[in-house]
Amino acid sequence: MKMQLVHQASLQPGDLALDLACGTGTLALLLQKSQPDARVIGIDADPEIISIAKKKMKKNHADSILFEEGFSDRLPFSNNLFHHVFTSLFIHHLTLEEKKDTFKEVHRILQSGGQFHLLDFEKPKNRTMRAAFLPVQLLDGFKTTSPHVKGIIPDLLKETKFAAIEETGRFSTLLGTIRTYRAFKV
Ligand SMILES: C[S@@+](CC[C@H](N)C(=O)[O-])C[C@H]1O[C@@H](n2cnc3c(N)ncnc32)[C@H](O)[C@@H]1O
Repeated sequence: MKMQLVHQASLQPGDLALDLACGTGTLALLLQKSQPDARVIGIDADPEIISIAKKKMKKNHADSILFEEGFSDRLPFSNNLFHHVFTSLFIHHLTLEEKKDTFKEVHRILQSGGQFHLLDFEKPKNRTMRAAFLPVQLLDGFKTTSPHVKGIIPDLLKETKFAAIEETGRFSTLLGTIRTYRAFKV
């Protein structure tokens, strides 16, 4: 599923790309491999995860990927900096206010014409997929996950003034429907 984001972005040499809430850096690594001349940064709120990610990059000869510690609703980057921002399986962990603040921050740090690529649990395709999502809700909390049952991501993108919002993929998984999106900063 992460490869869908890699393909839809099609990074170019010199592009600056951020993997937001990067975890151990799996997506950051796929992005760097897809375009060795792009500059890839991963950011995560958990310093232990960052240290695991750094070790993983060393093992994979991808030391050029930079990692920073930081929160999604106050990103430590200047305005209009990135060509691409990616985020995978993260937004469903946030409260509605945090989701909104995070989308505003992503919009702020993207260049005009820059792209936001997302992958997350979203509106279930059918009743089976709705039932499959329940364990995730029990584990991660109903407050943060319920908006995704209705399909919150396109609405949030619109509200944050992103343009050309497109659903680029839909995956039926053991834990529910996962959708991918792309949107542009005008
Ligand atoms: C489910 S993991 C997803 C990791 C990775 N993106 C992936 O797809 O495998 C969620 C990640 O979000 C990070 N995280 C949680 N709250 C955060 C916040 N407010 N800002 C940045 N990262 C956060 C966690 O530390 C964790 O690494």
